[in-house]
Amino acid sequence: MTTELECRECGKRVPGGARYVCEDCFGPLGVVYDYEAIAKRLTREAIERRPPTMWRYRELLPLDEPPTVGTAVGMTPLVRARRLEKLLGVRELWIKNDAVSFPTLSFKDRVVAVALSKARELGFETVGCASTGNLANSVAAHAAAAGFSAWILIPEDLEPGKVVGTSVYGPHLVAVRGAYDDVNRLCAEIAGRHPIGLVNVNLRAYYAEGSKSFGFEIAEQLGWRLPDHVVAPMASGSLVTKIEKSFGELAKLGLVEERPVVFHGGQGEGCAPIVDAIRAGRDLVRPVRQPHTIAKSLAIGNPADGYYAARCVLGSGGSAAAPDDEAIRAAILLLAETEGIFTETAGGVTFGAYRMLLDEGRIPREACVVVSITGNGLKTLDAVAAAPPPVIAPRIDEFDRLLGSSRASIETTRTETT
Ligand SMILES: Cc1ncc(COP(=O)(O)O)c(C=O)c1O
Ligand SMILES: [Zn+2]
Repeated sequence: MTTELECRECGKRVPGGARYVCEDCFGPLGVVYDYEAIAKRLTREAIERRPPTMWRYRELLPLDEPPTVGTAVGMTPLVRARRLEKLLGVRELWIKNDAVSFPTLSFKDRVVAVALSKARELGFETVGCASTGNLANSVAAHAAAAGFSAWILIPEDLEPGKVVGTSVYGPHLVAVRGAYDDVNRLCAEIAGRHPIGLVNVNLRAYYAEGSKSFGFEIAEQLGWRLPDHVVAPMASGSLVTKIEKSFGELAKLGLVEERPVVFHGGQGEGCAPIVDAIRAGRDLVRPVRQPHTIAKSLAIGNPADGYYAARCVLGSGGSAAAPDDEAIRAAILLLAETEGIFTETAGGVTFGAYRMLLDEGRIPREACVVVSITGNGLKTLDAVAAAPPPVIAPRIDEFDRLLGSSRASIETTRTETT
């Protein structure tokens, strides 16, 4: 294994390190792997014998040494959504549920586990990030557990759940007056001036590779099989491209049978630069200047990997959709009420986009589909603030009166089977 880096545009190779753009053409850098060597030793059986974490695919993650941070991250459930299948009239629907990712309840634990393990390899003592919320939570938690000092920069208008879910770990947390793109620009300047391992800036090439584990797990959990369609949320656009890359790597290594997989993306209507590009059939992404959506975790107006995400989706024959705030709320509630999965607004976007694409006929009802749920609903409670429950005294007559006055009844038989 090697952590040599390669320009994704001109192909120039450079030694591994905390760098992220090609000095020749300013293209982004990616990690180089020796697939021939990996193919010789990596088998399904070897993977299955390892502990149920993302590190069971360690040959395909960019570390030179065993991981030191986030060693228990990964292997979240892939759930067959049978009640939704019945309700929506579809044949095979799966939910990959990173709402229950350990330890901070979003898929960002995967990228942070890789980035901070690499930060340690490279000798950083201080780490940080620019974040729309979930990354802040995960960097703060992992930095605390690994003994790094952390500087975390967020837009000033994030949800309280995301702010408390960061500050509780004791990092240097800084709210920036502006949108995520302002925060990101500032972080690029900080990385140029201070010795900080900023996970999604100067460690981005390594960090982004962590998202591949989301895809590796889907394939293994489907019984070493690739699905027909995948729906993913898009912010910077990295995740969807890394799921595609993960499937390609498994096929290249002979761990799954190669087959075409169609990728679809979702963004909130008030910040949908990649969706707009995809729906116009172009890979040129025009930045959104003033994002406005309840899906704040996805509110990146100028997405770093937007071009690659649009190419990934268009190249696979997929599409994209941008649910508005009401559709996001409705999707969160439907997923909760049918499958018992409570996702944050980003998951409402993904599941809402899935429903829109199903209605448009872009996802066939007979296909095997995986919907990517990447964050937890407890972090964005305001999005679905519900009416308070009725309050009664602890007496049976009050309960019976309530039962009589409501349309509810106590079911005596199971009305639905799974
Ligand atoms: C819950 C959640 N899902 C998805 C994403 C999108 O990830 P990417 O930036 O890789 O497109 C984010 C990004 O912050 C997120 O917080
Ligand atoms: Zn280059």
